[in-house]
Amino acid sequence: MKISVIGAGYVGLTSAACLAQIGHDVFCGESDLAKLHKLQSGGMPLFEPHLEQIIQDARQSGRLAFGSTEEAIDRGQAIFICVGTPPLKNGDADLSAIETVARSIAKRSSGYRLVIEKSTVPVQTGSQLRKHLSVHNTNRLDYDVASNPEFLREGSAVTDFLHPDRIVVGTDSERATGLLREIYRPIIEQTFACPVHTDCPHRNPARFLATDTNSAELIKHASNSFLAMKISFINMVANLCEVVGADVTKVAEGMGLDPRIGASFLKPGIGFGGFCFPKDLQAFIRIAEKSGCDFSLLREVEKINDRRVEHLIEKLRTELWVVRGKKLAVWGLAFKPDTDDVRFAPSIVLLKSLSEEGAVVRAYDPQAMAKASEVLPAVTYCADPYEAAQGADAVLIVTEWDEFRTLDWSRLRNLVERPLIVDGRNMFQAAEVTRHGFQYISIGRPSASHSAEDVAIAEGRG
Ligand SMILES: NC(=O)c1ccc[n+]([C@@H]2O[C@H](COP(=O)([O-])OP(=O)(O)OC[C@H]3O[C@@H](n4cnc5c(N)ncnc54)[C@H](O)[C@@H]3O)[C@@H](O)[C@H]2O)c1
Repeated sequence: MKISVIGAGYVGLTSAACLAQIGHDVFCGESDLAKLHKLQSGGMPLFEPHLEQIIQDARQSGRLAFGSTEEAIDRGQAIFICVGTPPLKNGDADLSAIETVARSIAKRSSGYRLVIEKSTVPVQTGSQLRKHLSVHNTNRLDYDVASNPEFLREGSAVTDFLHPDRIVVGTDSERATGLLREIYRPIIEQTFACPVHTDCPHRNPARFLATDTNSAELIKHASNSFLAMKISFINMVANLCEVVGADVTKVAEGMGLDPRIGASFLKPGIGFGGFCFPKDLQAFIRIAEKSGCDFSLLREVEKINDRRVEHLIEKLRTELWVVRGKKLAVWGLAFKPDTDDVRFAPSIVLLKSLSEEGAVVRAYDPQAMAKASEVLPAVTYCADPYEAAQGADAVLIVTEWDEFRTLDWSRLRNLVERPLIVDGRNMFQAAEVTRHGFQYISIGRPSASHSAEDVAIAEGRG
């Protein structure tokens, strides 16, 4: 089928590439000219595992091309809108990019178009889309509108798109449901050639859930808010563990063994970030408030999350006594591993606070330094974790990149001014760190100091 995707961001680019991979003829429109030129000349505007290769292959086989929004609107029978929906100051989702695309579709198109909102939007956006397509319809456009929220996670976007738990489609039109079922058939039946695995282990058929538009829109906001609530819940429990001397890892393990609770999203840390949870939570709260519903539960989820970075800084203050003038290594800037995305990342708030307090910060991230430096140009960015740790009074772990799991601890020990690790992601076991002569502070677990014996061994005297 001829498909257009509007917006070549994390969602749009992944959707375009994967829809081409499963056999469709895809045209992806992007309004940011720098991004567009990069894509047209074979470059990548973002990092996402496996995506570059899939795009290259799809372009070579003629199943994927990039161009302007207008070209994209003109090409596809099905148009996936994947533009950004960032938060406004009051927490509402900014839907201006969606409105612009809808108006353009209505004014330019004739014949039949299936307009699909894949961007995350508040409930009743589909009704607004239908209304605006009708208001600006100048060429006897025949159209359906469907909500098809995307559940991919950055860092595993390709696998998530191609092997989803569920495909949710909300529309009031049987024609639209039929077309979307047809578009996704290779994924529903798992019949496509998997570009990631030769002997693909994810071959369970995907559940296709057809519903009305409002419910589909709510499924996305409710899912993200629920996951955010799980994270804030375990962070709240972690705070109590710190005071009473319990280990939150064990508490989470014990809770997660109950299938009604489940183990995922029960990892304490310095809070959630990224382009989904913080803004979707806010937008969900706003839409509920406007509808007269009490969502104060989610306000608390937000509040708990907002305090996480300060909580980590407080631990640092307690240990360093004075932060001003201290050299701090920050490992990890992306809001999660395997992405270069720093939007609403805890690292940004952390680095701003530490700099304001007079610390000298040297940061390292395997993928996110270019994007972080656009927001925080004054920070010193380093070539590797060791360079960042040179002379440091503390090393702060902010993103749990795999690279940090295979450290040369004795090299690190010789580089730092003070052997102190403050782990905002609970990457390590205390014994593993103290064995190398480091003091270890983490989240919701007892702090651990190295013994004189540990230090002697780490310094080669033991
Ligand atoms: N990033 C995620 O992990 C994720 C997951 C699920 C859903 N979502 C949702 O998907 C949507 C997109 O998120 P994203 O992370 O891909 O954002 P993004 O900012 O990476 O991408 C959006 C792209 O749309 C482009 N754009 C804006 N207006 C346009 C127009 N008129 N024509 C063509 N292109 C236009 C922007 O230039 C940008 O490249 C958001 O609503 C988000 O909440 C994101």
